[in-house]
Amino acid sequence: MLELDRISVARGELRVVRDFALELPRGEMVALLGPNGAGKSSTIMAIAGHVPVVAGEIRLDGRRIDRLTAAERTHLGLGLVPEGRRIFSDLTVHENLVVGGYLLPRAEAEAREREVTALFPRLRERRRQRAGTLSGGEQQMLAIARALMVRPRLLLVDELSLGLMPAVVDLCFEVLQRLCREEGLACLLVEQNTQKALSVADRVTVLSAGRIVWQGSAAEARADEALIDRMLGLEAG
Ligand SMILES: Nc1ncnc2c1ncn2[C@@H]1O[C@H](COP(=O)(O)OP(=O)(O)OP(=O)(O)O)[C@@H](O)[C@H]1O
Ligand SMILES: [Mg+2]
Repeated sequence: MLELDRISVARGELRVVRDFALELPRGEMVALLGPNGAGKSSTIMAIAGHVPVVAGEIRLDGRRIDRLTAAERTHLGLGLVPEGRRIFSDLTVHENLVVGGYLLPRAEAEAREREVTALFPRLRERRRQRAGTLSGGEQQMLAIARALMVRPRLLLVDELSLGLMPAVVDLCFEVLQRLCREEGLACLLVEQNTQKALSVADRVTVLSAGRIVWQGSAAEARADEALIDRMLGLEAG
């Protein structure tokens, strides 16, 4: 479904990611790991259309999308849960979801809101609550639910687990895994929590200083625990 064909990503004058290649088929979850500053968020933002791709191509179902605007990519089925969640604190849960579904006709948006809040019942109970007063976990659920409003086929998630209790992280990943299994959603997850990432993902890509240093199945990575640590530079050797 998603093909990243040797893309390079620029931040200002600087190329922060080079020659990044990845294929992400329907229903699959790929974890993107790497130390701070490796270029993980830049890669995600480039796929979503918020940061320029200066070489290579991005294709979604065979169609080239790297010249399209972010809104056009959303329209084609690309959802983003950005680093830091970026929900609208002054709006209610319901209003945030309306913003997420702005591309949809009204009746469809209402139906979709019922579906995404069924995935996260705590959001349904807090429909009229201001998003800024939600707990961190609830805000992450809202950020995911908002991205799901347009029924994306590909979801990009940057640091889902950051600062959250394990139970909430598990709940969010269970929802994503179910969507992958049942609806063929493809997910690209940036994660700091390596163990969690390896337990939920099918495949793993490790980025360091803007280059891919390892790609393989999550099972391979789990079988050699030191491997990813080594790649992340957490351990000597
Ligand atoms: N808005 C920006 N303007 C200029 N340079 C930036 C900008 N955002 C990031 N960079 C640079 O791009 C490089 C990659 O950053 P990026 O945020 O993609 O890394 P990351 O892997 O997501 O790191 P982290 O784990 O800390 O979130 C870094 O060297 C960073 O300084
Ligand atoms: Mg980042």
